[in-house]
Amino acid sequence: MNARKLVRTFLIVGGILFGLMQFVQPDRTNPPVDPSQTMQSALAVPADVSALLDRGCRDCHSNSTTWPFYSYIAPASWLVSYDVEEGRKHFNMSEWQKYKFSRKTNILGGIASTVKEKEMPMPKYIPLHPEADFTDAERQRIIDWAQSEAAKLMGEE
Ligand code: HEC
Repeated sequence: MNARKLVRTFLIVGGILFGLMQFVQPDRTNPPVDPSQTMQSALAVPADVSALLDRGCRDCHSNSTTWPFYSYIAPASWLVSYDVEEGRKHFNMSEWQKYKFSRKTNILGGIASTVKEKEMPMPKYIPLHPEADFTDAERQRIIDWAQSEAAKLMGEE
């Protein structure tokens, strides 16, 4: 086989595989949100903190995900859907009131530490969502807020 034929075969086979991959559609559901169950209703979330959570966390940690166009195109769709599923499993702002006390304080501690260590928002999310590229002051704002809400909860217990 000469080089041209090889490239052509490769493109055709690749194209067919890509086409077939599109039939495997992941789950992209946004379960309904009951406003009385959300973290925003249970905790004091000032407007600026709420805006940061919206910009940097909501897509993966709530049931109000905005699914970008590439979440409809395999294989990107599989990766996005996996991150949202895992993110919601660990911390879902829309289902906050389902969590027990210890889980809530753990998550608040987790918010402070993951934002401090720059593990969250997930680094791979940032290039496609520049609004999630927090400044140091914005990171500090979330850290202070999460720590003070955790302290408040512990005080109430
Ligand atoms: C692109 C999706 C995505 C975004 C955006 C995102 N997260 Fe996550 N988050 C995840 C995934 C996935 C996990 C599960 C653990 C892991 O894979 O690191 C997780 C785990 C967590 C955890 C639990 C960590 C633990 O120790 O169990 C916390 C807390 C958290 N994220 C907070 C945040 C906060 C706060 C933001 C916004 C500032 C944010 N995340 C933005 C996907 C995301």
